Amino acid sequence: PSIFASADSLKLTSSSPAFATRMQSGSPMVTDEEFTGNVKAQLAKLFGLSLKLTAPEEPDVEPLVAACTAKFGDYQCNNAMSLWAKIKGKRTQFRGPPAVGEAIKNNLPPSEMIESCSIAGPGFVNVVLSKNWMAKSIQKMLIDGIDSWAPKLSIKRAVVDFSSPNIAKEMHVGHLRSTIIGDSLARMLEFSKVEVLRRNHVGDWGTQFGMLIEFLFEKFPNYEDVNEKAIGDLQAFYKESKQRFDADPDFKERAQRAVVRLQGGEDRYRRAWAQICEISRNEFQRVYQRLGVHLEEKGESFYNPYIPGVLKALTEQGLVEESQGCQVIFIDGFNIPLIVVKSDGGYNYASTDMTAIWYRLNEERAEWIIYVTDVGQQQHFAMVFKAAQRAGWLPVVDRSYPKASHVGFGLVLGDDGKRFRTRSSEVVRLVDLLDEAKARSKKELIDRGKGQEWTEEDIEQTAEAVGYGAVKYADLKNNRLTNYTFNYDQMLNDKGNTAVYLLYAHARICSIIRKSGKDIEELKKTGTLVLDHVDERVLGLHLLQFAEVVEEACMNLLPNVLCEYLYNLSEKFSTFYQQCKVVGSEEETSRLLLCEATAVVMRKCFYLLGITPIYKI
Ligand code: ARG
Repeated sequence: PSIFASADSLKLTSSSPAFATRMQSGSPMVTDEEFTGNVKAQLAKLFGLSLKLTAPEEPDVEPLVAACTAKFGDYQCNNAMSLWAKIKGKRTQFRGPPAVGEAIKNNLPPSEMIESCSIAGPGFVNVVLSKNWMAKSIQKMLIDGIDSWAPKLSIKRAVVDFSSPNIAKEMHVGHLRSTIIGDSLARMLEFSKVEVLRRNHVGDWGTQFGMLIEFLFEKFPNYEDVNEKAIGDLQAFYKESKQRFDADPDFKERAQRAVVRLQGGEDRYRRAWAQICEISRNEFQRVYQRLGVHLEEKGESFYNPYIPGVLKALTEQGLVEESQGCQVIFIDGFNIPLIVVKSDGGYNYASTDMTAIWYRLNEERAEWIIYVTDVGQQQHFAMVFKAAQRAGWLPVVDRSYPKASHVGFGLVLGDDGKRFRTRSSEVVRLVDLLDEAKARSKKELIDRGKGQEWTEEDIEQTAEAVGYGAVKYADLKNNRLTNYTFNYDQMLNDKGNTAVYLLYAHARICSIIRKSGKDIEELKKTGTLVLDHVDERVLGLHLLQFAEVVEEACMNLLPNVLCEYLYNLSEKFSTFYQQCKVVGSEEETSRLLLCEATAVVMRKCFYLLGITPIYKI
């Protein structure tokens, strides 16, 4: 039964008592035009209005709406209980939570989206969505495009600090995690219309440069003409120079002097430094290109000129104190202070991060700063954020903006359960790893006989999409805080929760639509989508939950939430496809539209995870 006097009375007349109350209380009517794809938010709005009508004297009760298991309905709202908790003991007309629920239900503003409402258990208000409204909303998305379902966030600009490898060292698997998790978070924020400053906080400064520069001079008198080819492997170069540094006291002394001369801005040293950075940069860039990741480099050295000013301001505020020859900031709850000037007078990682956070808040006006590094750096960031709070740059309350968040992630393990290494126990080079994933997916395509069917270019592109997609998805699907095991066979399996399975599933949906011979663009406009079969409705409901899932993944900084959604979507599509004949059935048009909507949402998920879709298999 409908909660409204009659389901078609969506436009209430002024004679309706509910309408009269609404007019008196001045609360706005929620129209379905306002629906922007977020079912949960829309229901919360309706429940918010109903709460105002039910208990106008309790303005601060927040409606909490959540999707629920099918046996209760589609969504559930808990606010009868939270309202009861506030009013019990006071003199009201209500005898208990179910009565409050009943009143909330009766005060719900009319909306096309709700089919029925019921009170269950200790006062949950359960909602069944109208399948006509669901079908209409999905079809509207097909016409307006998936961007019409983008979450609406309250912030305008964010910094995502990710990838951030160190110069002259190979990018390793840890940086891979940072790169793919950070890219996915940036994509989700951008989709939500937030301007994202994608920052590569490259480790391009520090004492190791003295050693590197000295070694460069020694090995290549014409250092300025030196290119990547001559240097070869920068990691090897770093290793060699480190050996030299450890073995030869004379070299060591020169290296230490070189740091001072570099920091003093001496031309020859600056140029050598720039040369080393450039070579490293080109190497990183090749990895980014393959991963389809875009970043803007503002390395540690960028913040150097600002450090003295920032520290001076902090000192004047009384935050910086002298301790054991260092300049430090003491922070409540930590037994060691944050060192911002070392005993030799030099700056460090923390001085740079204090300055970077100041710059991002004050110069770049970022409302949310997100740092993606391994969990090992958690304490460092906790201290930097607390120091920024002490300085008054960040509000003390975590929930308000501007805010800073550390996105930590666990280790990548090998099959032996230890840190992922090559057989010769070297750090795994990112490039090799991507090569291998691509080679394996290429072999799979050839084994499937695609060599005869497809062009060489098709094979290459598909192998890259599948191979790189598999690496990214295997990382993103885990809760980022847990360690995960890197295993090619697992990630490239076409069954189970893998990118391969999902990419193939998408390609199959595309092929269903192609093989129908119908013009899907035309159908979007002329056809009608219905959700009459139970499995159509289940799939439709899941599609409609896209926006709220992206918002959750984004706000909680958890890409795995989106992976889980995508995997479930594919499973729900499978069930629908097994149960409902598409091509050649009476419902063909509607079901093709449902296939298309699934493909559109899947593609957006892939996009947000940084994975390139494939259209045939
Ligand atoms: N370069 C550092 C590393 O490789 C990560 C930098 C993270 N960003 C920052 N603002 N501290 O561990």
